[in-house]
Amino acid sequence: MARRVDLRSDTVTQPTEAMRAAMASAVVGDDGYGEDPTVNELETRFAQLVGKEAAVFVASGIMANQIALRVLSRPGDLVVAGRHQHVVSFEMGAAARNSATQFATVDDTNGALDLADVVEIIESEGDHQPHVEVVSVENTHMFSGGVPWEVEDLERLSGAIGDRSLHLDGARLFNAVVATGASAARYAASATTVMTCLSKGLCAPVGSVLAGPAELMERARIERKRLGGALRQAGFLAAAGLVALDTMIERLHDDHRRARQLAELFAFAFPESNYDPTTCRTNIVAFDHPQARRMVEELSHLGVEGGTLAPQRARFVTHAGVSDDDVDFVAEVMARFTHAPRRTPLGIPPTRG
Ligand SMILES: Cc1ncc(COP(=O)(O)O)c(C=O)c1O
Repeated sequence: MARRVDLRSDTVTQPTEAMRAAMASAVVGDDGYGEDPTVNELETRFAQLVGKEAAVFVASGIMANQIALRVLSRPGDLVVAGRHQHVVSFEMGAAARNSATQFATVDDTNGALDLADVVEIIESEGDHQPHVEVVSVENTHMFSGGVPWEVEDLERLSGAIGDRSLHLDGARLFNAVVATGASAARYAASATTVMTCLSKGLCAPVGSVLAGPAELMERARIERKRLGGALRQAGFLAAAGLVALDTMIERLHDDHRRARQLAELFAFAFPESNYDPTTCRTNIVAFDHPQARRMVEELSHLGVEGGTLAPQRARFVTHAGVSDDDVDFVAEVMARFTHAPRRTPLGIPPTRG
């Protein structure tokens, strides 16, 4: 079979042997009655890691974000968020459907939100504009290329929004932790609610956890049920999640190192993208390209699978299934078309016909 390196997403990761063993021997119960000891252990572990009173295990990252907005806002409230954040642009309009809130979006090209932009929207309440109840941030910020927030910037933002809630979409929070050295608890201290995905770079097969104040997490359990997300013997999944938190965080350094190597390769191969590889600090290589879709399609024919985030934005993600050898393979592929004598307008040699 032809060689293929899958850089579409860190969601394609496989559970480790330790996870499979933990799942096979997990002690489980009916989580609907709060009786699954393994789920309870995972929730307690995550709450401790992020310094919150309680946590709730949910089926997915989107469910965690949606439940957070349900418990933090009321219909008609404004949620301030970056225009490209997952909760705004990649959840199929779920917030409008589930919470009847409206987003006020600000520029997030470089990952973080500008304090002045957020404050301006909050202050516009005095000019007959809707009430801002929640500010939502994403760390790392996927669309910008996995850019981690500087923890001090998050602290400043949290300080500036007064008693409004801050939700932290930390789908890749531990990538930020590994990249910046700031602890998960320090990041989360700025937020009312924080979630992380166990099923991305941490390699668990299913699941996310949402943490926050105990009273809010009790309401989160009700909202989870309303969404049909209350599971029963979910300890089989939580067991893998515990292994993820215990053993898979430090290895994210390897994903980051390999992503940076890929970033250099892509920047060199596609100078027309003006991509600065030094902006790649975690596991996502994302850059604009006038023909991103075609580029991704052509690379796919050469065995390098990526994806697009927008018609002119390409994305390649490293994860536990990508080795140093795979990076060498991508380098070979790149060299093949970078030095090709007869180049297509894209710089990629024709591979068919
Ligand atoms: C930043 C961010 N938040 C939330 C999610 C949603 O996670 P899930 O696919 O588990 O619903 C993703 C998924 O890629 C994400 O990148």
